[in-house]
Amino acid sequence: EKGGYDHFMMKEIMEQPRSVADCLRGRVIADQMHVKLGGIRHKMKDLMNANRIIIAACGTSWHAGLVAEYIIEEFTRIPVEVEYASEFRYRNPIIREDDVLIAISQSGETADTLAAIELAKSKGATILGVCNVVGSSIARSSDEGAYTHAGPEIGVASTKAFTAQLTVLTTMALMIAKEKQTLPEETLHKLLVDLESIPEKIAEALKCEEEIKKISEMYKDAQNFLYLGRGYNFPVALEGALKLKEISYIHAEGYPAAEMKHGPIALIDEEMPVAFIATKDSSYEKIVSNIQEVKARKGKVIAIVTKGDTLIPSMVDHAIEVPDVHEALMPMVSVIPLQLLSYYIAVLRGCDVDQPRNLAKSVTVE
Ligand code: M6R
Repeated sequence: EKGGYDHFMMKEIMEQPRSVADCLRGRVIADQMHVKLGGIRHKMKDLMNANRIIIAACGTSWHAGLVAEYIIEEFTRIPVEVEYASEFRYRNPIIREDDVLIAISQSGETADTLAAIELAKSKGATILGVCNVVGSSIARSSDEGAYTHAGPEIGVASTKAFTAQLTVLTTMALMIAKEKQTLPEETLHKLLVDLESIPEKIAEALKCEEEIKKISEMYKDAQNFLYLGRGYNFPVALEGALKLKEISYIHAEGYPAAEMKHGPIALIDEEMPVAFIATKDSSYEKIVSNIQEVKARKGKVIAIVTKGDTLIPSMVDHAIEVPDVHEALMPMVSVIPLQLLSYYIAVLRGCDVDQPRNLAKSVTVE
């Protein structure tokens, strides 16, 4: 049942080339400029004419929502707000009939996310669900939706559901962009080609496993970890930190790299490992300076870099290469080494990775 692996989490990490391919099947065919989520076709008009898109979710699904915010705004120019479902449901938010609420949930049973849906529904908004579990409560209470088709996720730490959520949300953004013509045809084509290539890019990223094992040995006794990223990789920093804390019980924080100066930089000394998600994108130069700032304070830096980069590897303690892809799609690839890092550190610390203490797979109480 664990496919020969010691834990479900590892099986699920390794499955990602397949789960993302399953998620894309029939939905994206770059050479035909085909991009379509059949499950939301009747609500496409509402989506295109939306005053605003509100994304409500919790945990890892909320991180996927943060990436989607950047992607949807960039490619469709529709304003997006991302809300913790637990905050949204209790704060009397402004919701209009021409708003579209996208609820993201692996289990489809998260109580707060379900309540956010009911609230938005009562105000007349259109509800779209992005769920993994077919027939789940959230899937059923949405007007329409798109399944992530990642297959059952057993490990409490969400891995393949996250990459599949990003796949669906990117597909949705490009589907709107195509209809609304908010992207030049060439750009849209290039993005679809890159999206189709994500399964092989993930397979390539997974090859860092042995290197990650070695790094995990070196840092397994750390008390704290900092994760930093900018732009599309900022939510990946949050996700890397969440993965580490929930399964290894090491205190970890994720921040946008530039926020470091506003407080967290005070934590940095020779004991502090800092994971930078520093792939070659539009914020590359900026993140190079952030890395210098950490090195100047003797922090230990593990950097996720784009294959072929030589500058950052020359500055840091450990560099992990991932293949290049359009920056908006990079989170699906750059998160892979961080999933492996949290897994190996937790295993080395003797933790129960599939069933971490105090946590349940679906949070059905508020
Ligand atoms: O099933 P959902 O996606 O609604 O669950 C949301 C969170 O409870 C979930 O992502 C949680 O944070 C995971 N344990 C993270 O790995």
